[in-house]
Amino acid sequence: SRSPLIAPSLLSADFARLAEESQRVADADWLHFDVMDAHFVPNLTFGLPVMQAVRAVSPVPLDCHLMIEAPERWAPGYAEAGARNVTVHAEACEGDPRAVARDLRAAGSLAGLALKPGTPLEEYLDVLPVFDTLLVMTVEPGFGGQRFLAETLPKVRRARELVDTGHLTLLVEVDGGINTDTIEQAAAAGADVFVAGSAVYGADDPARAIAGLRAQAAA
Ligand code: DX5
Ligand code: ZN
Repeated sequence: SRSPLIAPSLLSADFARLAEESQRVADADWLHFDVMDAHFVPNLTFGLPVMQAVRAVSPVPLDCHLMIEAPERWAPGYAEAGARNVTVHAEACEGDPRAVARDLRAAGSLAGLALKPGTPLEEYLDVLPVFDTLLVMTVEPGFGGQRFLAETLPKVRRARELVDTGHLTLLVEVDGGINTDTIEQAAAAGADVFVAGSAVYGADDPARAIAGLRAQAAA
């Protein structure tokens, strides 16, 4: 079976202690970095200078999730700064998303495409072959700590099926409301990468929380 990747989200960490917070999740697979611009989503977080600072001290590779307008303008900078994966929202792209994927890969990162809960996968089938990751939002983007939307699971299942039948080659990532109550449903639907903000940083022992989520996702 597939081995799940666990990606704690720094959105739920203590922003005054980002170095320590990245080190507290040293046994994670990726560190999820939520960039919000107060335009694409109604919230504002951090951008490239903060990513560069975290990248310099983090023991875990960065998974940058850009919830911003005009992502084609900003995304390559995150790849150049050493992100493992950079994900742009399909809904935010002004041109063909394949151009961003090309730029990201040329700059040395994986390329990810994110879909909001209401965005159908079928609209993007022709662009997905050039992406490495597909992020299926399991909450409306913008905030941590929201309730998991089970109605997004058919999209995860459909993506899994396209990968398993050889039509696509990508990692299927889920983001939002992933915790000990919901991760098994997401795993059963076929996700490979599990983002968890409040479930990891809200726990007394983040390392234990990661191990627990990983075990549940692998079961
Ligand atoms: C929401 C972000 C998520 C957020 C998840 O827009 O994309 O990555 O950090 O937080 P939880 O796991 O608390 O739902
Ligand atoms: Zn995210």
